[in-house]
Amino acid sequence: MNNEQVIKLGKLETILPEELGTRSKSSIFVLVDENTQRLCLPKLAGMGIPEDHVICIKAGDDNKSLEALASVWQHLCSHGATRKSLMINLGGGMVTDLGGFAASTFKRGMDYINIPTTLLGTIDAAVGGKTGINFGGLKNEIGVINSSQSVLIDVNFLRTLDKENFLSGYAEMIKHGLISNREVWNHITSYDLDHVDYDTLPALVEESINVKREVVKVDPTEKGIRKALNFGHTVGHAFESYAIQQNDTKLHGYAVAWGMISELYLSYKLVGFPKEEFYQAINLIKENYGSLYITCKEYDLLYELMTHDKKNEGDGRILFTLLGGIGDIRINTSVEKKDIFESLDFYRDTMGM
Ligand code: GLY
Repeated sequence: MNNEQVIKLGKLETILPEELGTRSKSSIFVLVDENTQRLCLPKLAGMGIPEDHVICIKAGDDNKSLEALASVWQHLCSHGATRKSLMINLGGGMVTDLGGFAASTFKRGMDYINIPTTLLGTIDAAVGGKTGINFGGLKNEIGVINSSQSVLIDVNFLRTLDKENFLSGYAEMIKHGLISNREVWNHITSYDLDHVDYDTLPALVEESINVKREVVKVDPTEKGIRKALNFGHTVGHAFESYAIQQNDTKLHGYAVAWGMISELYLSYKLVGFPKEEFYQAINLIKENYGSLYITCKEYDLLYELMTHDKKNEGDGRILFTLLGGIGDIRINTSVEKKDIFESLDFYRDTMGM
């Protein structure tokens, strides 16, 4: 398994040819979805990659499926891919997760490169080697941790993102600020979300990715400190799954942002997260992310959904990553049902429900 990952920022027209070097173009395959085929693939035109080596899957998390994965393996088989071939995943988290898994398993593993095209994919999914598909109604149930050889980031792809998709990725940057240190936190919170400055965005993106890289370097397989990257996700994933059950799909980063409201409350109440930064973070989320409507009738269902969290150890406890302050990470914190319900009360009060 490969866990060294090179991250390069720049114009794709420059950094991709540099990365490919003298590699034979006929050994390269590109995975796209319907959207990135139309909007992003043209940037690879003229690089010599054979047209029939472009593999297109349907867009959307519903298609992060065994069927789509099989279609990628099938294409690789029928077009002569070998374990010396290279896969380029051009897309958001769905493409990089599925493509990374396809590449990691085809002939027991070929190299792959991620070129993320969304902010969420850039900050989170493309970095750190988690790959996989949804299975049996559960998100990311099957997969491996195997990093791409490199991540090539061209922030020009982000210029066409709508505000919601920008904010979805930004939520993971808020999380990276909270789990790292005051300097990163101050940079994140002083960025003007109403007037996105694409000239200063690369430095902010790079700093945020470095937070994740440092954590992954220490604990690539999530035995311990990598659980820090799950801050906001215990409640966030429950919100996300609840919304799906209501046929009301929410963007992942929004669910994480709302989850951080509950988990900041638990951090404040149980492990002493300081009041001033608590309200700063709560207000940042409240002002930008709207809300998912829930009533207290949903608490039992949300709790049940939290019992499926991957951080739990099968003994009935719900284990959270909490914060005693910015950068003060408390993994494996068992939280009682009454406190979880209280944190949902706090979420509803904050959102004016
Ligand atoms: N998305 C969290 C992680 O990669 O560990």
